[in-house]
Amino acid sequence: MSLAVLDKTKIRHSFAAAAESYDAAALLQRQVGLALLQKFPLQSAPGWVLDVGCGTGFLTRRLAFNSFSQPCLALDIALPMLQASRRNNGAVPVEYVCADAEKLPFADQSLQQVYSNLALQWCQNLPALFADVRRLLKPDGQLVFSTFGPATLHELKAAWSGVDDFAHVNDFYSVEEIRGFLQAAGLGRIEMDAVMYRLSYPAVLALMRELKDLGAHNVSLARNRRLTTRSQLQHMIRQYEKNMINGEISASYEIIFVRASL
Ligand SMILES: C[S@@+](CC[C@H](N)C(=O)[O-])C[C@H]1O[C@@H](n2cnc3c(N)ncnc32)[C@H](O)[C@@H]1O
Repeated sequence: MSLAVLDKTKIRHSFAAAAESYDAAALLQRQVGLALLQKFPLQSAPGWVLDVGCGTGFLTRRLAFNSFSQPCLALDIALPMLQASRRNNGAVPVEYVCADAEKLPFADQSLQQVYSNLALQWCQNLPALFADVRRLLKPDGQLVFSTFGPATLHELKAAWSGVDDFAHVNDFYSVEEIRGFLQAAGLGRIEMDAVMYRLSYPAVLALMRELKDLGAHNVSLARNRRLTTRSQLQHMIRQYEKNMINGEISASYEIIFVRASL
């Protein structure tokens, strides 16, 4: 599948604006971060550990606590996220880097382990990103990450599809597509697992508010650039809330967990 072109400036601005509201909304992100570390723990080999798209620093803190005294780096494209992470992780020894994951500013074979929790879905060119990670990993290093799969928010997508043809929900790569990108990048030893998480909300507006607080706006260039009208929004909400059970709507998140190495 070829994905819609992402608007990088909008991604940076959305996450910068969400730095203060993120933690209160990021229940799923914390659950997935813990599951990621449980499935694919840090290895004890010495050398730098990098957290890509560290946000407010939840995974970074766990990486630093679980580390075997390896030094930790945390990278994010949005400066306010790094500032929040530094505040949250005051006592934790971490070096912060404000940069785009698609232009990683590290030397060849300089990192031992690269982790990322629910951030790589915001990158435009995953094949190139994986090739870059292969370049900067030491030969016995590992890349460990979680990302969203294509079934994510399928209920919201279906509700919007009855209203217009615009992309209201971001597209996500499948397990097989991600596996192909990793193999092409030379990261051929791959373990993957896809797990469906389902969260309940009292109303569609509560789901939309959570996505906004997370900074998770639709950033596809195929999105509707005009304002959505009140009646379009109400139409979508009616469609979605037809499937309420016991006064709650459900939203699915397909989470893909990955470990890859040379
Ligand atoms: C959903 S948050 C996840 C944050 C954190 N990993 C966690 O588990 O809570 C996604 C983060 O990725 C960052 N991000 C998005 N695109 C990025 C890029 N191209 N380079 C670096 N960081 C990026 C955002 O600024 C945001 O902080």
